[in-house]
Amino acid sequence: MKTVRLGVIGCGGMARAHMAYFPTIPGLKFTAAADPFDENIDLVRADHDITPFDDGQKLIKSGLVDAILICTPHYFHPELSIAGFKAGLHVLTEKPVAVTARDAVKVEAVHAKHQKLVYAAMFQIRAHPLWKRIKAMIDNGELGKLQRMNWIVTNWFRSQAYFNAGAWRATWKGEGGGVLLNQCPHNLDLLCWLLGSPSSVQAQVALGKYHNIEVEDEVTAFLQWKNGMTGVFVTSTGEYPGTDRLEIIGDRGKLTVADGIITFNQTHESILAFSKTTDEAFATPATDTLTIEAGGDDPGHRIVTANFIRKIQKPSTQLICSGQDALAELELGNAMLMSGLTNKPVPIPTNRAAYDRMLKELIKNSTYVKPKVKKAKVDMAKSFH
Ligand SMILES: NC(=O)c1ccc[n+]([C@@H]2O[C@H](COP(=O)([O-])OP(=O)(O)OC[C@H]3O[C@@H](n4cnc5c(N)ncnc54)[C@H](O)[C@@H]3O)[C@@H](O)[C@H]2O)c1
Repeated sequence: MKTVRLGVIGCGGMARAHMAYFPTIPGLKFTAAADPFDENIDLVRADHDITPFDDGQKLIKSGLVDAILICTPHYFHPELSIAGFKAGLHVLTEKPVAVTARDAVKVEAVHAKHQKLVYAAMFQIRAHPLWKRIKAMIDNGELGKLQRMNWIVTNWFRSQAYFNAGAWRATWKGEGGGVLLNQCPHNLDLLCWLLGSPSSVQAQVALGKYHNIEVEDEVTAFLQWKNGMTGVFVTSTGEYPGTDRLEIIGDRGKLTVADGIITFNQTHESILAFSKTTDEAFATPATDTLTIEAGGDDPGHRIVTANFIRKIQKPSTQLICSGQDALAELELGNAMLMSGLTNKPVPIPTNRAAYDRMLKELIKNSTYVKPKVKKAKVDMAKSFH
Protein backbone atom coordinates (compact mmCIF):
# COMPACT_ATOMS: atom_id res chain seq x y z
CA MET A 1 0.00 0.00 0.00
CA LYS A 2 1.35 3.40 -1.03
CA THR A 3 2.49 5.59 1.87
CA VAL A 4 1.03 9.10 1.69
CA ARG A 5 3.26 11.88 3.07
CA LEU A 6 0.96 14.44 4.66
CA GLY A 7 1.74 18.07 5.50
CA VAL A 8 -0.48 20.16 7.76
CA ILE A 9 -0.87 23.89 7.12
CA GLY A 10 -2.04 25.90 10.13
CA CYS A 11 -1.11 24.37 13.48
CA GLY A 12 -3.77 25.73 15.82
CA GLY A 13 -6.31 23.91 17.95
CA MET A 14 -8.04 21.86 15.25
CA ALA A 15 -4.82 20.89 13.50
CA ARG A 16 -3.30 19.53 16.70
CA ALA A 17 -6.50 17.55 17.42
CA HIS A 18 -6.10 15.97 13.95
CA MET A 19 -2.42 15.19 14.51
CA ALA A 20 -3.21 13.16 17.63
CA TYR A 21 -4.92 10.38 15.60
CA PHE A 22 -2.52 10.38 12.61
CA PRO A 23 -0.51 7.38 13.95
CA THR A 24 -3.71 5.26 13.86
CA ILE A 25 -4.19 5.68 10.10
CA PRO A 26 -2.43 3.05 7.99
CA GLY A 27 -0.37 4.52 5.15
CA LEU A 28 -0.31 8.09 6.56
CA LYS A 29 3.16 9.53 7.22
CA PHE A 30 3.06 12.97 8.83
CA THR A 31 6.14 14.68 7.41
CA ALA A 32 5.73 18.47 7.55
CA ALA A 33 3.80 21.28 9.23
CA ALA A 34 3.52 25.02 8.60
CA ASP A 35 2.45 27.92 10.78
CA PRO A 36 3.69 31.52 10.92
CA PHE A 37 4.02 31.34 14.72
CA ASP A 38 6.99 29.52 16.22
CA GLU A 39 5.14 28.64 19.41
CA ASN A 40 2.51 26.70 17.40
CA ILE A 41 5.19 24.82 15.46
CA ASP A 42 7.03 24.06 18.72
CA LEU A 43 3.89 22.44 20.13
CA VAL A 44 3.74 20.17 17.07
CA ARG A 45 7.46 19.33 17.18
CA ALA A 46 7.15 18.31 20.82
CA ASP A 47 5.04 15.32 19.71
CA HIS A 48 5.89 14.70 16.06
CA ASP A 49 9.02 14.25 13.97
CA ILE A 50 8.26 16.73 11.16
CA THR A 51 9.99 19.32 9.01
CA PRO A 52 8.69 22.76 10.08
CA PHE A 53 7.83 25.69 7.80
CA ASP A 54 6.81 29.24 8.65
CA ASP A 55 4.66 29.48 5.52
CA GLY A 56 2.20 27.08 3.87
CA GLN A 57 3.41 27.91 0.35
CA LYS A 58 6.94 26.81 1.29
CA LEU A 59 5.58 23.50 2.61
CA ILE A 60 3.61 23.01 -0.61
CA LYS A 61 6.76 23.52 -2.73
CA SER A 62 9.04 21.49 -0.43
CA GLY A 63 8.77 18.11 -2.17
CA LEU A 64 8.28 16.56 1.27
CA VAL A 65 4.56 15.91 0.96
CA ASP A 66 2.08 14.15 -1.35
CA ALA A 67 -0.97 15.67 0.29
CA ILE A 68 -1.94 18.59 2.52
CA LEU A 69 -4.48 19.09 5.29
CA ILE A 70 -5.44 22.78 5.50
CA CYS A 71 -6.31 23.97 9.02
CA THR A 72 -5.79 27.73 8.73
CA PRO A 73 -8.51 30.37 9.20
CA HIS A 74 -11.09 30.01 6.40
CA TYR A 75 -9.95 32.79 4.05
CA PHE A 76 -6.69 30.92 3.33
CA HIS A 77 -8.42 27.64 2.40
CA PRO A 78 -8.99 28.41 -1.32
CA GLU A 79 -5.57 29.92 -2.07
CA LEU A 80 -3.79 27.02 -0.35
CA SER A 81 -6.03 24.44 -2.07
CA ILE A 82 -5.25 26.00 -5.46
CA ALA A 83 -1.51 26.13 -4.72
CA GLY A 84 -1.68 22.50 -3.61
CA PHE A 85 -3.32 21.30 -6.83
CA LYS A 86 -0.90 23.33 -8.97
CA ALA A 87 1.98 21.61 -7.13
CA GLY A 88 0.44 18.18 -7.79
CA LEU A 89 -0.74 17.58 -4.22
CA HIS A 90 -3.95 16.00 -2.93
CA VAL A 91 -5.96 18.38 -0.73
CA LEU A 92 -8.07 17.81 2.36
CA THR A 93 -9.38 21.13 3.61
CA GLU A 94 -11.05 22.06 6.85
CA LYS A 95 -14.55 23.44 6.63
CA PRO A 96 -15.71 25.75 5.20
CA VAL A 97 -13.86 25.19 1.90
CA ALA A 98 -13.89 28.97 1.39
CA VAL A 99 -15.64 32.05 2.76
CA THR A 100 -17.54 32.75 -0.44
CA ALA A 101 -19.11 30.40 -2.95
CA ARG A 102 -17.30 32.37 -5.66
CA ASP A 103 -13.91 31.40 -4.22
CA ALA A 104 -15.01 27.78 -3.78
CA VAL A 105 -15.94 27.67 -7.47
CA LYS A 106 -12.50 29.03 -8.39
CA VAL A 107 -10.92 26.11 -6.49
CA GLU A 108 -13.17 23.67 -8.33
CA ALA A 109 -12.09 25.14 -11.66
CA VAL A 110 -8.42 24.51 -10.83
CA HIS A 111 -9.19 21.05 -9.45
CA ALA A 112 -11.03 20.23 -12.70
CA LYS A 113 -7.65 20.53 -14.46
CA HIS A 114 -6.06 18.11 -11.96
CA GLN A 115 -8.75 15.49 -11.61
CA LYS A 116 -6.37 12.73 -10.58
CA LEU A 117 -5.73 14.66 -7.37
CA VAL A 118 -8.12 14.03 -4.48
CA TYR A 119 -10.05 17.06 -3.18
CA ALA A 120 -11.91 16.39 0.07
CA ALA A 121 -13.52 18.48 2.80
CA MET A 122 -13.67 17.89 6.56
CA PHE A 123 -17.41 17.44 7.03
CA GLN A 124 -16.95 14.64 9.53
CA ILE A 125 -20.50 14.54 10.88
CA ARG A 126 -21.54 12.84 7.64
CA ALA A 127 -19.52 9.85 8.88
CA HIS A 128 -21.51 9.52 12.11
CA PRO A 129 -23.78 6.41 12.27
CA LEU A 130 -26.79 8.53 13.26
CA TRP A 131 -26.61 10.76 10.20
CA LYS A 132 -25.72 7.89 7.89
CA ARG A 133 -28.87 6.12 9.08
CA ILE A 134 -31.06 9.18 8.46
CA LYS A 135 -29.56 9.62 5.00
CA ALA A 136 -30.34 5.97 4.19
CA MET A 137 -33.92 6.30 5.50
CA ILE A 138 -34.58 9.35 3.33
CA ASP A 139 -32.88 7.89 0.26
CA ASN A 140 -34.83 4.61 0.68
CA GLY A 141 -38.06 6.59 0.59
CA GLU A 142 -39.10 5.62 4.14
CA LEU A 143 -40.42 9.15 4.77
CA GLY A 144 -42.27 9.33 1.48
CA LYS A 145 -42.33 12.60 -0.45
CA LEU A 146 -40.65 15.25 1.71
CA GLN A 147 -42.90 18.14 2.77
CA ARG A 148 -41.23 20.28 5.41
CA MET A 149 -38.35 20.55 7.84
CA ASN A 150 -37.40 22.65 10.82
CA TRP A 151 -34.08 22.72 12.58
CA ILE A 152 -33.52 24.67 15.75
CA VAL A 153 -29.79 24.51 16.38
CA THR A 154 -29.13 26.99 19.11
CA ASN A 155 -26.71 24.88 21.16
CA TRP A 156 -23.70 26.73 19.77
CA PHE A 157 -23.26 29.00 22.80
CA ARG A 158 -19.92 30.80 22.72
CA SER A 159 -18.53 33.21 25.32
CA GLN A 160 -16.93 36.57 24.53
CA ALA A 161 -13.61 34.97 25.57
CA TYR A 162 -13.98 32.51 22.68
CA PHE A 163 -14.32 35.32 20.15
CA ASN A 164 -11.49 37.30 21.74
CA ALA A 165 -9.17 34.25 21.65
CA GLY A 166 -8.38 34.52 17.94
CA ALA A 167 -7.75 37.86 16.21
CA TRP A 168 -9.34 36.49 13.03
CA ARG A 169 -12.51 35.21 14.65
CA ALA A 170 -15.91 36.89 14.21
CA THR A 171 -14.60 39.70 11.97
CA TRP A 172 -15.56 40.37 8.34
CA LYS A 173 -11.90 40.68 7.39
CA GLY A 174 -10.56 37.69 9.33
CA GLU A 175 -13.43 35.19 9.15
CA GLY A 176 -15.99 36.60 6.72
CA GLY A 177 -18.99 35.80 8.90
CA GLY A 178 -20.12 34.44 12.24
CA VAL A 179 -22.26 31.48 13.22
CA LEU A 180 -23.02 30.67 9.55
CA LEU A 181 -19.32 30.49 8.66
CA ASN A 182 -17.91 28.92 11.78
CA GLN A 183 -20.34 26.83 13.84
CA CYS A 184 -23.14 26.03 11.37
CA PRO A 185 -21.35 24.73 8.27
CA HIS A 186 -21.87 21.18 9.55
CA ASN A 187 -25.62 21.72 10.03
CA LEU A 188 -25.95 23.43 6.66
CA ASP A 189 -23.97 20.62 5.03
CA LEU A 190 -26.18 17.94 6.60
CA LEU A 191 -29.28 19.85 5.56
CA CYS A 192 -28.17 19.98 1.90
CA TRP A 193 -26.81 16.42 1.95
CA LEU A 194 -30.03 14.96 3.36
CA LEU A 195 -32.64 17.10 1.64
CA GLY A 196 -30.95 18.67 -1.38
CA SER A 197 -30.20 22.37 -1.76
CA PRO A 198 -33.07 24.79 -1.19
CA SER A 199 -33.86 27.06 -4.13
CA SER A 200 -34.44 30.26 -2.13
CA VAL A 201 -34.10 31.72 1.34
CA GLN A 202 -35.46 34.63 3.32
CA ALA A 203 -33.55 35.25 6.51
CA GLN A 204 -33.40 37.56 9.48
CA VAL A 205 -29.84 37.99 10.73
CA ALA A 206 -28.65 39.83 13.84
CA LEU A 207 -25.08 41.18 13.98
CA GLY A 208 -23.39 41.21 17.37
CA LYS A 209 -26.68 40.88 19.25
CA TYR A 210 -25.22 38.91 22.16
CA HIS A 211 -21.48 39.52 21.82
CA ASN A 212 -19.09 42.35 21.13
CA ILE A 213 -18.52 41.10 17.56
CA GLU A 214 -19.37 42.56 14.15
CA VAL A 215 -20.74 39.41 12.49
CA GLU A 216 -23.97 37.43 12.86
CA ASP A 217 -24.73 35.61 16.11
CA GLU A 218 -28.43 34.87 15.52
CA VAL A 219 -30.19 33.71 12.34
CA THR A 220 -33.77 32.73 11.51
CA ALA A 221 -34.22 31.55 7.94
CA PHE A 222 -37.20 30.44 5.88
CA LEU A 223 -36.25 27.99 3.13
CA GLN A 224 -38.00 26.83 -0.02
CA TRP A 225 -37.17 23.97 -2.35
CA LYS A 226 -38.13 23.60 -6.02
CA ASN A 227 -40.23 20.51 -5.20
CA GLY A 228 -42.49 22.53 -2.90
CA MET A 229 -40.79 21.55 0.34
CA THR A 230 -40.40 24.34 2.92
CA GLY A 231 -38.23 24.72 6.01
CA VAL A 232 -37.15 26.87 8.90
CA PHE A 233 -33.60 27.03 10.23
CA VAL A 234 -32.79 28.84 13.48
CA THR A 235 -29.38 29.25 15.05
CA SER A 236 -27.64 31.32 17.72
CA THR A 237 -24.38 31.50 19.65
CA GLY A 238 -26.01 33.61 22.38
CA GLU A 239 -28.48 31.22 24.04
CA TYR A 240 -27.98 28.76 26.86
CA PRO A 241 -29.12 26.07 27.28
CA GLY A 242 -29.67 25.71 23.58
CA THR A 243 -31.67 23.23 21.54
CA ASP A 244 -30.62 20.90 18.75
CA ARG A 245 -33.80 19.51 17.26
CA LEU A 246 -34.37 18.59 13.63
CA GLU A 247 -37.77 17.53 12.32
CA ILE A 248 -38.25 16.23 8.79
CA ILE A 249 -41.81 15.65 7.68
CA GLY A 250 -42.73 13.50 4.72
CA ASP A 251 -45.90 11.98 3.33
CA ARG A 252 -45.17 8.85 5.44
CA GLY A 253 -44.65 10.57 8.78
CA LYS A 254 -42.23 12.56 10.90
CA LEU A 255 -38.57 11.95 11.71
CA THR A 256 -37.17 13.81 14.70
CA VAL A 257 -33.51 13.99 15.71
CA ALA A 258 -32.86 15.30 19.21
CA ASP A 259 -30.32 14.42 21.92
CA GLY A 260 -28.61 11.91 19.66
CA ILE A 261 -31.78 9.86 19.15
CA ILE A 262 -33.85 9.40 16.00
CA THR A 263 -37.59 9.04 16.51
CA PHE A 264 -39.55 8.08 13.42
CA ASN A 265 -43.34 8.12 13.54
CA GLN A 266 -44.15 6.31 10.31
CA THR A 267 -47.72 6.26 9.03
CA HIS A 268 -49.07 2.97 7.69
CA GLU A 269 -50.07 4.68 4.45
CA SER A 270 -49.61 7.92 2.56
CA ILE A 271 -51.01 10.80 4.62
CA LEU A 272 -52.36 12.48 1.50
CA ALA A 273 -54.11 9.27 0.36
CA PHE A 274 -55.54 8.77 3.86
CA SER A 275 -56.79 12.36 3.99
CA LYS A 276 -58.53 11.96 0.63
CA THR A 277 -60.17 8.60 1.33
CA THR A 278 -61.22 8.54 4.99
CA ASP A 279 -64.85 9.40 5.71
CA GLU A 280 -64.16 10.23 9.38
CA ALA A 281 -63.87 13.98 10.09
CA PHE A 282 -61.28 13.70 12.86
CA ALA A 283 -59.50 10.51 11.85
CA THR A 284 -55.68 10.35 11.75
CA PRO A 285 -53.52 7.73 10.05
CA ALA A 286 -52.24 4.81 12.13
CA THR A 287 -48.52 5.08 12.91
CA ASP A 288 -45.65 2.98 14.20
CA THR A 289 -43.00 4.63 16.34
CA LEU A 290 -39.40 3.62 15.77
CA THR A 291 -36.67 4.85 18.13
CA ILE A 292 -33.08 4.52 16.96
CA GLU A 293 -30.04 5.23 19.07
CA ALA A 294 -27.29 5.30 16.50
CA GLY A 295 -24.29 5.68 18.76
CA GLY A 296 -20.70 6.54 18.03
CA ASP A 297 -18.58 8.89 20.09
CA ASP A 298 -15.93 9.32 17.43
CA PRO A 299 -16.29 12.88 16.13
CA GLY A 300 -15.43 11.49 12.72
CA HIS A 301 -12.32 13.54 11.90
CA ARG A 302 -10.19 10.40 11.89
CA ILE A 303 -12.70 8.62 9.63
CA VAL A 304 -12.65 11.48 7.08
CA THR A 305 -8.83 11.68 7.07
CA ALA A 306 -8.55 7.88 6.73
CA ASN A 307 -11.08 8.03 3.86
CA PHE A 308 -8.97 10.74 2.16
CA ILE A 309 -5.77 8.68 2.47
CA ARG A 310 -7.59 5.57 1.24
CA LYS A 311 -8.96 7.47 -1.77
CA ILE A 312 -5.39 8.49 -2.70
CA GLN A 313 -4.26 4.88 -2.38
CA LYS A 314 -7.32 3.36 -4.07
CA PRO A 315 -9.10 5.80 -6.43
CA SER A 316 -12.32 3.73 -6.56
CA THR A 317 -12.95 4.63 -2.88
CA GLN A 318 -16.06 6.78 -2.36
CA LEU A 319 -15.21 10.09 -0.63
CA ILE A 320 -17.29 10.96 2.44
CA CYS A 321 -17.37 14.59 1.32
CA SER A 322 -15.61 15.89 -1.76
CA GLY A 323 -14.59 19.54 -2.05
CA GLN A 324 -17.31 19.90 -4.69
CA ASP A 325 -19.97 18.47 -2.33
CA ALA A 326 -18.98 21.09 0.21
CA LEU A 327 -20.06 23.97 -2.03
CA ALA A 328 -23.78 23.49 -1.27
CA GLU A 329 -23.56 24.47 2.40
CA LEU A 330 -21.49 27.53 1.52
CA GLU A 331 -24.05 28.66 -1.08
CA LEU A 332 -26.76 28.25 1.55
CA GLY A 333 -24.85 30.11 4.29
CA ASN A 334 -23.93 32.91 1.89
CA ALA A 335 -27.57 33.18 0.78
CA MET A 336 -28.82 33.39 4.39
CA LEU A 337 -26.37 36.18 5.17
CA MET A 338 -27.14 38.03 1.94
CA SER A 339 -30.88 37.79 2.53
CA GLY A 340 -30.57 38.91 6.15
CA LEU A 341 -28.32 41.88 5.34
CA THR A 342 -30.33 43.03 2.31
CA ASN A 343 -33.68 42.23 3.93
CA LYS A 344 -34.83 40.46 0.76
CA PRO A 345 -35.47 36.86 -0.29
CA VAL A 346 -32.58 35.54 -2.40
CA PRO A 347 -32.30 32.62 -4.82
CA ILE A 348 -29.80 29.78 -4.34
CA PRO A 349 -27.24 29.84 -5.83
CA THR A 350 -27.19 33.51 -4.99
CA ASN A 351 -25.53 36.15 -7.15
CA ARG A 352 -21.94 35.27 -6.25
CA ALA A 353 -20.40 38.47 -7.59
CA ALA A 354 -22.94 40.57 -5.65
CA TYR A 355 -22.14 38.56 -2.52
CA ASP A 356 -18.43 39.29 -2.94
CA ARG A 357 -19.16 42.99 -3.37
CA MET A 358 -21.31 42.98 -0.22
CA LEU A 359 -18.57 41.31 1.80
CA LYS A 360 -15.91 43.72 0.49
CA GLU A 361 -18.13 46.65 1.53
CA LEU A 362 -18.55 45.16 5.01
CA ILE A 363 -14.77 44.83 5.33
CA LYS A 364 -14.16 48.35 3.99
CA ASN A 365 -16.74 49.98 6.27
CA SER A 366 -15.76 48.05 9.39
CA THR A 367 -15.02 50.16 12.48
CA TYR A 368 -14.89 47.14 14.80
CA VAL A 369 -12.02 46.89 17.28
CA LYS A 370 -11.57 43.57 19.06
CA PRO A 371 -11.46 43.85 22.87
CA LYS A 372 -7.96 43.23 24.26
CA VAL A 373 -8.09 40.54 26.95
CA LYS A 374 -5.79 37.99 28.50
CA LYS A 375 -5.43 34.71 26.53
CA ALA A 376 -8.56 32.56 26.75
CA LYS A 377 -8.47 28.91 27.81
CA VAL A 378 -9.25 26.76 24.77
CA ASP A 379 -10.28 23.12 25.11
CA MET A 380 -10.51 21.72 21.55
CA ALA A 381 -12.34 18.62 22.78
CA LYS A 382 -15.30 20.90 23.50
CA SER A 383 -15.11 22.67 20.18
CA PHE A 384 -15.73 20.14 17.43
CA HIS A 385 -17.58 22.38 15.00
N1 LIG B 1 -14.17 20.17 11.30
C1 LIG B 1 -14.26 20.62 12.53
O1 LIG B 1 -14.91 20.02 13.39
C2 LIG B 1 -13.55 21.89 12.91
C3 LIG B 1 -13.38 22.24 14.26
C4 LIG B 1 -12.65 23.38 14.58
C5 LIG B 1 -12.13 24.17 13.58
N2 LIG B 1 -12.35 23.83 12.26
C6 LIG B 1 -11.80 24.66 11.18
O2 LIG B 1 -10.38 24.63 11.26
C7 LIG B 1 -9.85 25.89 10.87
C8 LIG B 1 -8.90 26.39 11.96
O3 LIG B 1 -9.62 26.52 13.15
P1 LIG B 1 -8.89 26.48 14.58
O4 LIG B 1 -9.98 26.44 15.58
O5 LIG B 1 -7.84 25.43 14.59
O6 LIG B 1 -8.22 27.93 14.59
P2 LIG B 1 -6.88 28.39 15.32
O7 LIG B 1 -6.91 29.87 15.35
O8 LIG B 1 -6.74 27.64 16.61
O9 LIG B 1 -5.72 27.88 14.34
C9 LIG B 1 -5.44 28.48 13.11
C10 LIG B 1 -3.95 28.33 12.90
O10 LIG B 1 -3.62 28.74 11.57
C11 LIG B 1 -2.40 29.49 11.63
N3 LIG B 1 -2.36 30.33 10.43
C12 LIG B 1 -2.98 31.51 10.21
N4 LIG B 1 -2.75 31.91 8.96
C13 LIG B 1 -1.95 30.99 8.38
C14 LIG B 1 -1.36 30.85 7.10
N5 LIG B 1 -1.54 31.75 6.14
N6 LIG B 1 -0.60 29.75 6.87
C15 LIG B 1 -0.40 28.83 7.81
N7 LIG B 1 -0.95 28.90 9.04
C16 LIG B 1 -1.71 29.97 9.32
C17 LIG B 1 -2.50 30.27 12.94
O11 LIG B 1 -1.24 30.71 13.39
C18 LIG B 1 -3.11 29.20 13.85
O12 LIG B 1 -2.12 28.41 14.47
C19 LIG B 1 -11.04 26.83 10.62
O13 LIG B 1 -11.29 26.95 9.25
C20 LIG B 1 -12.21 26.11 11.31
O14 LIG B 1 -13.47 26.34 10.68
C21 LIG B 1 -13.02 22.71 11.93
